Amino acid sequence: MSNPNNWKQYFDQKAETHGASVKSSDYFDDESFFMQRNNTLRWLGEMKGKEVLDAGCGVGAFSEPLVKENTVYGVDFSVKSLEFAAQRGLVTSSQDLTAMNFESGKFDVVMCIGVIQLIEQYQAVIQELARVTKPGGTLLIQTLHQGSVQRKLLKLFEKSKKFDKMYAMDELRDVFAKHGFEHIEFLKMYHPFKFVASSRTGGNVSDAFCTSFAIKGSKKH
Ligand SMILES: C[S@@+](CC[C@H](N)C(=O)[O-])C[C@H]1O[C@@H](n2cnc3c(N)ncnc32)[C@H](O)[C@@H]1O
Repeated sequence: MSNPNNWKQYFDQKAETHGASVKSSDYFDDESFFMQRNNTLRWLGEMKGKEVLDAGCGVGAFSEPLVKENTVYGVDFSVKSLEFAAQRGLVTSSQDLTAMNFESGKFDVVMCIGVIQLIEQYQAVIQELARVTKPGGTLLIQTLHQGSVQRKLLKLFEKSKKFDKMYAMDELRDVFAKHGFEHIEFLKMYHPFKFVASSRTGGNVSDAFCTSFAIKGSKKH
């Protein structure tokens, strides 16, 4: 399912059924969600008084801890999901990530979690995320790892026909570099081992067991 209109319907339906729960954003369970969120936010570092964009925020559970001390904007095309994100304190707007109405360089931090695996033409989204990131600001994207042994095994037994594009770390590193990002780093997550590791390189031997990863970089001045 790579048609974006279907994804809108799909996530509206999920939010209708599961409400504010992370099940609306297709997390396996609470434990897996908190493992990913807590490690990723710790890796992103302390933030205060920042303008943050949560791009494809769903019900807003991932960026909720940032709301207290920052202004967090949540964009998603699922209007039903945004109702819950607004209740969590995000400043919400229903927009498509390929064409947002924010001025260029608005955000100190742009995060996009669990979204690009749904999008075949993901380069248009990254270009737009890069545009709205402030020079000196941070872009963080989290997604599925292509080389994962566990994911390959899962595919053998999986009945779901859900579209999941997986990514090589080096592919995203090149896209970040192309859009003017430097100091690029990875946070690698190894499900179900609850193990995470940060690194400046992708494509290592141990990466065969990495199920998902986050990549972050700073936009050059
Ligand atoms: C798997 S959920 C992740 C939600 C949230 N980031 C999280 O981690 O809890 C993916 C979200 O991306 C949104 N999305 C996908 N493609 C989009 C697009 N082109 N424009 C806006 N939202 C999009 C979906 O509606 C959905 O809410």
